[in-house]
Amino acid sequence: MESQSTNAARVVLPPAPPGFSSDSFFEGIYWHQQWELFQGVSVPGPNKVKFLCDSAHLPANLNGKRVLDVGAWNGCFSFECERRGAREVIALSLEDPALSGFDRLKRVLDSKVQYINGSVYNLNPEQMGTFDVILFFGVLYHMRYPLLAIDRLRSVSSGEVYIETHVIDRHSWLRGRLGLVTKLLGRGVGLALRATPIWRQYREFELNATDQSNWFGPNVVAVLEAFQSSGFDIAHTSSWRNRAAFRAQACPIPPRLLKHTYEGHSANINVVGLHSIDDTLSG
Ligand SMILES: C[S@@+](CC[C@H](N)C(=O)[O-])C[C@H]1O[C@@H](n2cnc3c(N)ncnc32)[C@H](O)[C@@H]1O
Repeated sequence: MESQSTNAARVVLPPAPPGFSSDSFFEGIYWHQQWELFQGVSVPGPNKVKFLCDSAHLPANLNGKRVLDVGAWNGCFSFECERRGAREVIALSLEDPALSGFDRLKRVLDSKVQYINGSVYNLNPEQMGTFDVILFFGVLYHMRYPLLAIDRLRSVSSGEVYIETHVIDRHSWLRGRLGLVTKLLGRGVGLALRATPIWRQYREFELNATDQSNWFGPNVVAVLEAFQSSGFDIAHTSSWRNRAAFRAQACPIPPRLLKHTYEGHSANINVVGLHSIDDTLSG
């Protein structure tokens, strides 16, 4: 895979418009993302947009690209892609954009980003076309059907997918007292399991005491092999704490998935959505 410039070109941001008040603008919304909106004015969430874009090696220049931001929430990643020159950006997410802050940001930025209230599981190239760039940040471990989500991403991808997710490589994931075993044996266990793909399933509040929306914690090699199995070349770009980032490139879909197994049976093909993608890529 080609190496790409990861450092965002220093865009000079405009100052806040006359009469803009941060206090009233940000009031009443839960801001998940942190992003510089105007000179010296940032969306006040914990999730750092610039850090994550750099971690996944998102190019500084997206001139002419058609972009899909899956799980957009406040929308800052979508607006960042527009700022990097994308020709068209679609933000797809489950929130009401009037309540998530998306509409508020779109208005103040006079942005053209389009919001679709919908699910990754329904992505369909016949309805939406294909995308040069897809962002899939902070969504994979929220999926009860992660491989289905990846197949659906593949069905609308004609270029790259940038991924950021929770991973378990540096995370103590054995239940109960067994968790101690990993601590006692130290890094050896983690290193031994690093070459074996693992999707660790979570009960309700097991990963996060205040959030039961997490279903699976993959390790890095599980993410790599899941995307490869759907027809992506993929590289691991970065890891920190219990998170990792990746850059994937659409490639021909493996015959195993399309023809040689039960999953390729015509009764399944509408579910995974890989039947209608460009033949030149699916080979
Ligand atoms: C942890 S947030 C990540 C938000 C953003 N991408 C970021 O990194 O800051 C998870 C997002 O995934 C979205 N999401 C969860 N399940 C989804 C699905 N089936 N289809 C589309 N979006 C989904 C949620 O609506 C939420 O916006």
